[in-house]
Amino acid sequence: MSFRYAGADRDALAGVSVDVPAGSSLALVGHTGSGKSTLAALVARLHDPTAGRVTIDGVDVRDLDPEVLASIVGVVSQETYLVHASIRENLLLAAPEATDADLWQALAAAQVADLASLPDGLDTIVGSRGYRFSGGEQQRIAIARTILRGPRVLILDEATSALDNETERALQVALDRLVEGRTTITIAHRLSTVEGADQIVVLDDGRVVEQGRHGELLAAEGAYAGLALAA
Ligand SMILES: Nc1ncnc2c1ncn2[C@@H]1O[C@H](COP(=O)(O)OP(=O)(O)OP(=O)(O)O)[C@@H](O)[C@H]1O
Ligand SMILES: [Mg+2]
Repeated sequence: MSFRYAGADRDALAGVSVDVPAGSSLALVGHTGSGKSTLAALVARLHDPTAGRVTIDGVDVRDLDPEVLASIVGVVSQETYLVHASIRENLLLAAPEATDADLWQALAAAQVADLASLPDGLDTIVGSRGYRFSGGEQQRIAIARTILRGPRVLILDEATSALDNETERALQVALDRLVEGRTTITIAHRLSTVEGADQIVVLDDGRVVEQGRHGELLAAEGAYAGLALAA
């Protein structure tokens, strides 16, 4: 599969072939500009390949109804998209039928327990004119929303900058709960994520230059071994 941005003079991805078995995890690593975000975007069909195809369970994503695709593929990135509305409304966007008990369960799994101490609880309004949640809290509320949506395929765009220890730990627990049992593609910057991945793909200049597991790639002393990953 290859992909070239409109107007670009070269491919952002060239001859990339990756198979992610259902339920397994893939970590994408590589230098800036190597094509990680582009590859992830193709799975969510933010772009279509210039050549080749992206399939889920053997079905070309172009043949899936956009709503169906949106329910299958979930994206969790640093930018969270909470709307200026109550927590309840934000969560019900993902699961209109969910009960309050379901919402609290998802929030607990996403490590947003402190919400229970807010006077308005689920009716707390998110946003500049509402309660000022920290970036980390907003991110975890968005994770709760993704838990409620329950996509089978998850794309995680890991934070590049170091978070403080407590935020990091809470976020990690939330993410661990989220990825359980799902097919996961993580744009990984941290060793802990990459070490545990079923498969690591190293991209360089739009091409797959190495592929394997942490131990074997380290032993190969190639591109992967040369990448500096945050501990
Ligand atoms: N919208 C765009 N239009 C044109 N070229 C783009 C666009 N987005 C990315 N590119 C180019 O495609 C290549 C791959 O970019 P991509 O964002 O996928 O890299 P990345 O591995 O995610 O990098 P980073 O680690 O910095 O996030 C780069 O050369 C980049 O300049
Ligand atoms: Mg990127």
